Amino acid sequence: MTELTNETRQALIDLGNEARRRAYVPYSNYRVGAALRGKSGKIYTGVNVENAAYPVTMCAERVALFKAVSEGECEFDAISVVTDNGGSPCGSCRQVLAEFGLDIIVLIADGEGNLVEKTTVHALLPGAFGPEHLV
Ligand code: THU
Repeated sequence: MTELTNETRQALIDLGNEARRRAYVPYSNYRVGAALRGKSGKIYTGVNVENAAYPVTMCAERVALFKAVSEGECEFDAISVVTDNGGSPCGSCRQVLAEFGLDIIVLIADGEGNLVEKTTVHALLPGAFGPEHLV
């Protein structure tokens, strides 16, 4: 697992927290922000984007990841997930993150910018179905 400096860790949390202001959440009012650090050092933020047709809502983590992949970055060190109450990534986001690395560090933080839990995709989704199962 790549280690993160305290500075990088807090920068990811702060960027995720800041991004929450742009969350589009007219239905739940539950603001989620994510900041994903590519191995290049570039950071991609994401917010949850809700929809009147509720199930097509997209989570902040996946917005960040899809932004990164669409810009050509497919390897990642860490992601922050920031909510008011330190909520944990949903199952769909765990699966999507697992596709790109079980070692990705996941920083779960609250709206005050405090780290609630530091974990990994592997710990959040043990026994993940992955690309290796398809060969
Ligand atoms: N949400 C995320 O953005 N990420 C998660 O991992 C969990 C849930 C969003 C989806 C919806 O807009 C709101 O939080 C409430 O479920």
